Amino acid sequence: MTEKMTIAVVGATGQQGGGLARAILDDSEGRYSCRAVTRNPATDAARALADRGADVVRADLDDQKSLIEAFRGASNAFCMTNFFEHFSPEKELEQAANLAAAAKAAGIGHVIWSTSQDSSAWARRHGDSLPVLPGGYRVPHWDGKAQADHFFTDSGVATTFVGPSMFWENLLAPGTPQFPQRGPDGVLAITLPAGAAKLPGIPAEDLGRCAYAIFKAGSDFVGRSVGLAAEHLTATELAAGLSEALGETVRYNDIPLAALRAAPVPGADAIANMFQITTEDNEDYCAHYDIGLTRALNPRLQTFAEWVAAARDRSRMAAGTAYEAAR
Ligand SMILES: NC(=O)c1ccc[n+]([C@@H]2O[C@H](COP(=O)([O-])OP(=O)(O)OC[C@H]3O[C@@H](n4cnc5c(N)ncnc54)[C@H](OP(=O)(O)O)[C@@H]3O)[C@@H](O)[C@H]2O)c1
Repeated sequence: MTEKMTIAVVGATGQQGGGLARAILDDSEGRYSCRAVTRNPATDAARALADRGADVVRADLDDQKSLIEAFRGASNAFCMTNFFEHFSPEKELEQAANLAAAAKAAGIGHVIWSTSQDSSAWARRHGDSLPVLPGGYRVPHWDGKAQADHFFTDSGVATTFVGPSMFWENLLAPGTPQFPQRGPDGVLAITLPAGAAKLPGIPAEDLGRCAYAIFKAGSDFVGRSVGLAAEHLTATELAAGLSEALGETVRYNDIPLAALRAAPVPGADAIANMFQITTEDNEDYCAHYDIGLTRALNPRLQTFAEWVAAARDRSRMAAGTAYEAAR
């Protein structure tokens, strides 16, 4: 039997990396084994991967040496950073530099860098109407990732630049802008400045399955920038799908960008800039997220209706408990 090649998965205990780790582990007859990279192998998420056969190793994105050790002997590495843990594009840049240098030092043959679009392309078109935020970024959770692309290019390591669209899981996650809140009238509502714009989205689990297909395809995707989405849906369509799944009305409240900008919520200005781009340049924005390619990579790709129906059966969403818990 030929020895399996190893995919090192940063973020394996999280959403997108977890999707990739499970895709590898589900393919027990496949050519790859899963090395799950985590800061803490003792967590339930890390143990669940170990129980399924993953090699769980400890490393920290802030510690390049630990990443080199975690990547050593692997053929592939899935690299991601978690902006929402620290809200710092500078830290994402440092962590991405560590990832690229570690991939190079460990001799990784093919990296996926989970990146983002760069707001500066749109900034040239929007001019002053797209405010520069403290720190010099316009959409900090996009721009650090996009500006980090060059670390991978410069390293010379074969890299595919994957652009995830909005994770539909945000609809279940308190604290995200997409999470429905119950209004004073008792009705659940998604409140966004999205108008009738299409919002590309994907289940994080499917993003991981696409990443696995990209690794399996090898050189076909090296050097390419790939935007992944299962569907491009309006906020009204997302609300309608949730209503159907929950058996109760979820409304879409359309609000002006200015109302979000003025909201006393950390990061509101960044989210407003993001929605300014996605709504005012909607066609261009959506064009990056290729549904046909995403489905070709992952034929099991869920539609929103399928995902929401499956989510309904998860206890977190049953009868809207997530929404009640977050009141
Ligand atoms: N939500 C969306 O709609 C969306 C869309 C596009 C892009 N994104 C981007 O996706 C990223 C979040 O991805 P996710 O939702 O999959 O994350 P997640 O579920 O919150 O999990 C975060 C993962 O990152 C790992 N991690 C964080 N800091 C680390 C460190 N210092 N060293 C090693 N591992 C570290 C964690 O591992 P351990 O805790 O086990 O160490 C965990 O596995 C963000 O940067 C966000 O901007 C999100």
